[in-house]
Amino acid sequence: MSITAIKGFNDILPGEVEKWQHIEATARDVFSRYGLSEIRIPILEKTDLFARSIGDTTDIVEKEMYSFIDKGENRVTLRPEGTASVMRAFIEHKLYALDPVSKLYYMGPMFRYERPQKGRYRQFHQIGAEVTGVANPRVDAQVLTMLSQFFAALELDEPSLEINSLGCPECRPAYRETLKEFLRSKLDSLCEDCRRRFETNPLRALDCKVEGCKNATAGAPAMLEHLCAGCDAHFASTREHLELVSTRYRINNRMVRGLDYYTRTTFEMVTGLLGAQSAVAAGGRYDGLIADLGGPSIPGIGFAMGVERVALLLDAAKFSSSPALFIVALGEQAQKSAFSIACELQSGGVSVEFDYEGKSMKSQMRRADKLSCRYTLIIGEAELASGRAPLKEMATGIQTEVPLTPESIVCQLKS
Ligand code: HAM
Repeated sequence: MSITAIKGFNDILPGEVEKWQHIEATARDVFSRYGLSEIRIPILEKTDLFARSIGDTTDIVEKEMYSFIDKGENRVTLRPEGTASVMRAFIEHKLYALDPVSKLYYMGPMFRYERPQKGRYRQFHQIGAEVTGVANPRVDAQVLTMLSQFFAALELDEPSLEINSLGCPECRPAYRETLKEFLRSKLDSLCEDCRRRFETNPLRALDCKVEGCKNATAGAPAMLEHLCAGCDAHFASTREHLELVSTRYRINNRMVRGLDYYTRTTFEMVTGLLGAQSAVAAGGRYDGLIADLGGPSIPGIGFAMGVERVALLLDAAKFSSSPALFIVALGEQAQKSAFSIACELQSGGVSVEFDYEGKSMKSQMRRADKLSCRYTLIIGEAELASGRAPLKEMATGIQTEVPLTPESIVCQLKS
């Protein structure tokens, strides 16, 4: 029996990978316009890093981490997200000493032991951005605008931006109590998860997808109505700056994030096109995280997008690339000539395919067709003798004779 991949771990095959390359290139292009630099962080970190940052009572830390003891008896975890690692590196290398504002992005695989389904995997990929050092809401608006521009650059109408504020340590505890008071009489209508989280993380009931919880929390008090003056002003200014640059958003006062480090602004890019997995990107402000991880008191804000989910929104057909030329060669001498012409054209920047095995003309033409090559060049004994061969444009069927030299072929391909 052959060995298959682990459940929830996917291969990204040719045909699909071109979309990923386009997404990555677009992110690099858009992010660099906003002054972000790339950081590459390890896939494996000490388990404590995630427990301390994401939160002990979150689903990620409680149930979803790939954690194990390594051969040196260290407790380690395959990273379930990037923010904690980037902040660990930020503190460890004192990046704040280089510039008071640090703007970083990263891309790569993350690991969560979730129930796999469309858009949800156990190894998935994120492209994330983290901006630290600015408490001013202008940076919230800029990060959100950059994220919106990324999706605009992909020419996607979906997803759309939703924002909320989760308050801060000054106003959230009182709101939590108000919410608990509201939920206490409705505990029987809540799902098992929400009942379990009632003491430790009651806010999660607000974005629970279970019908009973949705009904029970319909009239629940919202954090936005219980913000302290500082958080209220921050949210108002974020909105004002979004509007100043016409970045479209809607307020979702039931949005609760699944990670504990958030303060104030939180946001999601949501779509109705991916079933239950509606969040294509998500993030927020984390003004206490760097200090919690043992660094200086520096605010931060960031997001991560799920590359698989972005790819699901993109039309694969637009990104497939086909060779410019297929050289059909008949006979040993012609095959040698095809081999060396192909080699020269490839080193000169032209994408070329040819037959390696001396197959029939029909089979070579069939492959050229299948690969959607733009041109075919046919070389046989007669062409070798005359030094000229027919070059056919596949879409139009127009055929021209070209001298059998790489320079002439390139000239004709360009004309
Ligand atoms: P998150 O909401 O856990 O936030 O994940 C961000 C995005 O990663 C989600 O919106 C989704 O698109 C994608 N994602 C998450 N889990 C899966 C999965 N199992 N399969 C496929 N895609 C998935 C974070 O990770 C934060 N670190 C974001 C952040 C950065 N906040 C501040 N800075």
